[in-house]
Amino acid sequence: MKGIILAGGSATRLYPLSKAISKQIMPVYDKPMIYYPLSTLMLAGIREVLVISTPRDLPMFEELLGDGSRIGMKLAYKVQEVPNGLAQAFVLGREFLNGEPGCLILGDNMFYGQHFKAMLHEAVESVRNGGACVFGYEVADPRAYGVVEFDRDGRVLSLEEKPANPKSNYAVPGLYFYDGTVCGKAADLQPSARGEYEITDLNKLYLAEGTLKVKLFSRGFAWLDTGNCDSLLDAGNFIATIQNRQGFYVSCIEEIAWRNGWISTGHLADLGKEMKTAYGRYLERLAAKG
Ligand code: DAU
Repeated sequence: MKGIILAGGSATRLYPLSKAISKQIMPVYDKPMIYYPLSTLMLAGIREVLVISTPRDLPMFEELLGDGSRIGMKLAYKVQEVPNGLAQAFVLGREFLNGEPGCLILGDNMFYGQHFKAMLHEAVESVRNGGACVFGYEVADPRAYGVVEFDRDGRVLSLEEKPANPKSNYAVPGLYFYDGTVCGKAADLQPSARGEYEITDLNKLYLAEGTLKVKLFSRGFAWLDTGNCDSLLDAGNFIATIQNRQGFYVSCIEEIAWRNGWISTGHLADLGKEMKTAYGRYLERLAAKG
């Protein structure tokens, strides 16, 4: 399984913040936003990742993350010239995936909660045998999202993108797992009424095939929004609260790489020493504990 992070777009809802800089590089408390989706892929055990962004912003991600070898990963980069839809990730990522299953995560989607790693591993396993696996998350107002409707037995009845009158309160977060047929399916999509290659249309193809699974996140689980200044600040405060209370860092990519066995304890300590910050000292403490 390989991963794709879609980190383009113009983030006009964050203007003037995002006028000259990518949204997905902005701080969420103590780390760049892209660390959070990257850590989700890492928790799923995905070691090879393609980062897609705008011609302006891609070099910044390359500078931040490099080729990934510092955290035992392999990272590649691809430009999306025009932000004309999430499903384009699988047109741009075709060569990279090379027929393998793929997981797409949006560069501004943050997840935190119990049993997340187990859910991710279940999703990876489920698409290994074909099909797609996405998630449902209950929200008070789902009109800004993809929305999934279920019947009484939990079977998926419909999927709609940003419906004016949602058929349920279950939003579909920006985290999608697909089998090796995804690039072929994405290539056949037509733009929607708003002119975008919609991820929801891609998911509908799997629904029509009868191979779409939807796993539900539970009540206590956090799927955080970073779409406007208030939600960005809330997300940062949430991370700060958890980290400062428990002493564990959320989405610390070096820690996850180490716990996954992708880098050695010595290397973790070296990475920590390079940063004269609380973040660096955290890595050094982890390494010292072994
Ligand atoms: O966050 C989950 C939602 O993401 C889903 O529930 C929806 O089904 C899905 O369409 C998407 O909705 P959004 O309105 O959040 O999509 P948006 O256009 O804001 O794009 C999401 C992120 O992806 C954003 O950070 C910009 C980036 N993006 C977007 C497009 C359309 C790209 O990098 N390239 C693109 O072509």
